[in-house]
Amino acid sequence: MPGSGIGLAVASYLLSQGWLVVISDKDAVAGEKAAAELGCKFFAADITNYDQLAQTFALTWQQYHRLDFEHYYDEEPLVVSSDGFESLPIPAFLMTAKVNFIGTLQTAYLAQHYLARNGGGSLIFTASSGSLYPSAAVPVYSASKHGVLGFAQSIAKYSWEEKNIRVNSLCPGTIITGLTDEKNWARFPKAHLTPMKKLVDVVGILLDDPAIHGKAVEISGLNHYFHSPRTPVDESMVVAVDEVQSRSFL
Ligand SMILES: NC(=O)c1ccc[n+]([C@@H]2O[C@H](COP(=O)([O-])OP(=O)(O)OC[C@H]3O[C@@H](n4cnc5c(N)ncnc54)[C@H](O)[C@@H]3O)[C@@H](O)[C@H]2O)c1
Repeated sequence: MPGSGIGLAVASYLLSQGWLVVISDKDAVAGEKAAAELGCKFFAADITNYDQLAQTFALTWQQYHRLDFEHYYDEEPLVVSSDGFESLPIPAFLMTAKVNFIGTLQTAYLAQHYLARNGGGSLIFTASSGSLYPSAAVPVYSASKHGVLGFAQSIAKYSWEEKNIRVNSLCPGTIITGLTDEKNWARFPKAHLTPMKKLVDVVGILLDDPAIHGKAVEISGLNHYFHSPRTPVDESMVVAVDEVQSRSFL
């Protein structure tokens, strides 16, 4: 759970429901402040740094001896950077891919380890509408979020059947957070924004209903829609997909 935005709102909701919550963020100052306000533990970690992340999970386990729910978050400023064709583009976008995708894999790997240790639980990925739709505005962000959803749905069946871990993904549209600045948010008409409360309500639904697993939940304005993974187009594809589903990377 991070020290701002969606993660902070979810942490606040969970505390209101009586959960024991640990938040983590690379921003130690904001994280400590948020934890003090919320009344919960904070451990600093950059999710692209596996050792820091592993330490956060280990400290959480030491503190509470269990992990029931991991809400994965991330964010790096969305940069696809080029100064024109005079010089080579600066690969700032690689950091977006690293945080969004590699950070997610690392977090999920550790979360599964600890969730399995206490007999199962719930793993909710913060994917995005960018996981479902291509985005010309932020192609690397969209590609990395497609990766997040693809990964979540790829591990969902095995996680559920073998480890009693429910894997679901949130795919929100636009929610005003610290993700970008006011000027950028002003580009999105108010009528199309999703209130933070809506997202938190969906998290509550996913946590409370033990029958929901392997879903992507698209959250658009005040509505939410459950999506299952795409059905294979023909018999050859069924064989290909089944072969993949019989294995697990975690
Ligand atoms: N806000 C939206 O409209 C929206 C829509 C769809 C998906 N999302 C996704 O929701 C997630 C949370 O974003 P948000 O909108 O709450 O933004 P936010 O900027 O308010 O919060 C992101 C948090 O992540 C932390 N962070 C960034 N890089 C990190 C790293 N390497 N290691 C650890 N912590 C790091 C930041 O310090 C910050 O506290 C992101 O994955 C984002 O892509 C947001």
